[in-house]
Amino acid sequence: MVKLLDPVASFVNREHGVFIGGEFVDSRGADRIPVTDPYSGQVLTTVPSGVSADIDAAVAAATQALPAWRKMPTATRAELLWRLGARIEELADEFAQLDALDNGKPVSEALAVDVPLSAGLYKYYAGWASKLEGRTITPQGGASMHVYTRRESVGVVGAIIPWNFPLLMCGYKLGPALATGNTVVLKPAEQTPLSALRLAEVINEVGFPPGVVNIVTGYGPTAGAPLAAHPGVDKITFTGETSTGQKIMQAAQGNMKKVTLELGGKSPSVVFADADLDAALEGTFGAVFFNQGQCCIAGARVYVEDSIADEFTARLVDRVGQVRLGSGLDPETTMGPLVSEEQQERVNSMIRSGIDEGATIASDPDTPLPGQGSFVRPTVFTDVKPDMRIMREEIFGPVAMVARFKTEEEAVILANDTSYGLCSGVWTKDIARAHRMAAGIHAGTVYVNTYGYFDPAVSFGGFKMSGFGKELGEEALDSYLQTKTVWVNLD
Ligand code: NAI
Ligand code: MG
Repeated sequence: MVKLLDPVASFVNREHGVFIGGEFVDSRGADRIPVTDPYSGQVLTTVPSGVSADIDAAVAAATQALPAWRKMPTATRAELLWRLGARIEELADEFAQLDALDNGKPVSEALAVDVPLSAGLYKYYAGWASKLEGRTITPQGGASMHVYTRRESVGVVGAIIPWNFPLLMCGYKLGPALATGNTVVLKPAEQTPLSALRLAEVINEVGFPPGVVNIVTGYGPTAGAPLAAHPGVDKITFTGETSTGQKIMQAAQGNMKKVTLELGGKSPSVVFADADLDAALEGTFGAVFFNQGQCCIAGARVYVEDSIADEFTARLVDRVGQVRLGSGLDPETTMGPLVSEEQQERVNSMIRSGIDEGATIASDPDTPLPGQGSFVRPTVFTDVKPDMRIMREEIFGPVAMVARFKTEEEAVILANDTSYGLCSGVWTKDIARAHRMAAGIHAGTVYVNTYGYFDPAVSFGGFKMSGFGKELGEEALDSYLQTKTVWVNLD
């Protein structure tokens, strides 16, 4: 077991306030949220349960900081973002431990994915800060006009994020929002506020002006909802459950906020008999079980071509048997506990519904679980039917459903048999088939012979009930900018 780094231990024990106008201050409300280690079940510390008066204060600070931030030389904005990314790299071990402690995820995964991707995001968007250009347009009717466009920041951005990638989700929102000259009020998930609060300290340390980033910890209904409804907020960017996204759309309508929603998924992984089966097995395993299965992109509907289905299922079950459950802080651990007892119960109840509706558990149902912590046994279901809850609803835990198909046409129909459209995976060596599948699947991302790659330069976002608006890449900039058209009469 790795010992907690001294700075992590002392940070956790600090008195935590809300971060408004560059300072940690007391919440206007009196309630606190216990921050729990999902492995030990112990309360690590508490953070403020932010209230609408905190949101008011944070929006006021963001509004005050906005004019100077918009006018700041873009090279300075770029430098601040770059420094933030570089500092996160220096503090990688610290951030990885914080997220492991708070979320339960293995430190090895936080160091491989969450932290470097976070740092890379700020550095990537640093590059964009100085490259936001408008256009000049010649009116086709021949009017003697000089017409050009300016790309301006939207204003004050409210960001509401989930608990599955606590540090990384901050970056998804802050990177493009700040590069484009917006100021931000961010609400971390109530389950995992620690790395966002540590990030606030780093934001101060690298020199961001006060009020450019404000962070209010709190619950959804008492801190998230007032942020989504606030008349001083110009845009809301949200990642989380689809039903929460629907509430946020409603709350946003009062002042016509721009909205970006990254919501749930029920993504298919399609394995053809001609695939490299070793690669398909490892890729499919990761698609389902990475981050304890708590991924919006989890490719948990696994469709396998009939002729290899028995062999593939047996190998997947065997691979699942190699999982090492344990504390996220233990370097030997390959799967940690789920984020909370609530999530554990939610996933276990989905597993029970699968059994009740007649699916078969192909994995070992008696795999021993650690004697503590909100663990869920990694599970592989077979004999699944399209209308079962486990095939329709997001599970957000370590559960795979394996079904069979006979033809490519059938595979496309099955892959698209969902109200979601976030992601998908296709495993085949036939290049023409790979492209046909990529065109046929209705989802924001199709991975071919890989799964789950993310890169700051590559945009990501859902179709259908998985939401709208892209994150990452150049495309994410659009949702944080508005285009102004200027007509100048030349006569
Ligand atoms: P959630 O959508 O309720 O929470 C995400 C964020 O939204 C949190 O910061 C929360 O405080 C905030 N929030 C909740 N209600 C709000 C409201 N009325 N107004 C404004 N903000 C609000 O997700 P939750 O309850 O943590 O997880 C439930 C399920 O949602 C999971 O089991 C999973 O299926 C799904 N989920 C999907 C995610 C994704 O990335 N697609 C991420 C997190 C959860
Ligand atoms: Mg919720």
